[in-house]
Amino acid sequence: MTKIGIILGSTRPGRNGEAVARWVAQIASERTDAEFELVDLLDYKLPHLDEAYPPSLGQYTQPHTLAWASKIASFDGYVMVTPEYNHSTSGALKNAIDFLYAEWNNKAVGFVSYGSVGGTRAVEHLRLIAGELQMADVRAQVALSLFTDFENFSVFKPGEHQSDAVTAMLDQVVAWSAALAPLRDAS
Ligand SMILES: Cc1cc2nc3c(=O)[nH]c(=O)nc-3n(C[C@H](O)[C@H](O)[C@H](O)COP(=O)(O)O)c2cc1C
Repeated sequence: MTKIGIILGSTRPGRNGEAVARWVAQIASERTDAEFELVDLLDYKLPHLDEAYPPSLGQYTQPHTLAWASKIASFDGYVMVTPEYNHSTSGALKNAIDFLYAEWNNKAVGFVSYGSVGGTRAVEHLRLIAGELQMADVRAQVALSLFTDFENFSVFKPGEHQSDAVTAMLDQVVAWSAALAPLRDAS
């Protein structure tokens, strides 16, 4: 069975990201074409990157890196749930991505973002990063507005159409994650 990790990419107290990621996980849980797991960066307590060697060499030494690598390696594809901070993704998510390399390769990724213009600028940066990590970023994405999908910018109340957007994005992530399996097997 294809396994997809839904990565919750914000860690600050009072984060909106938790409600968003749980909503995505709830929609995903109703599917039968893949298994889905919510991965909360808070649970991995990653410091700023503290490995001596570039992650592309795969010579991880720190226990927190090995735990993170083991979790990320267990998936065939991902959904990254990202806030927009200063027109990019969160430092926490970028740092967590930077820790690893091979674990991301030849896997699909889809994005759910939120911000004043749907967090779309954060996703544009993540798509550039995905290219360097040899990830296949799907076209369909979910862009949630702080103005119309949240009350008072803090209580998550997604528009009805947004669950269809999640389904369209998950369709592509599941399909591409499965399609890339032969490349993963070969490497
Ligand atoms: C450091 C910081 C920078 C932000 N910069 C932007 C921004 O550039 N564009 C935007 O639309 N929202 C911006 N925001 C608003 C966030 O998108 C909003 O607070 C969102 O809820 C943050 O996600 P979180 O609650 O999961 O941390 C920023 C928020 C923070 C904390």
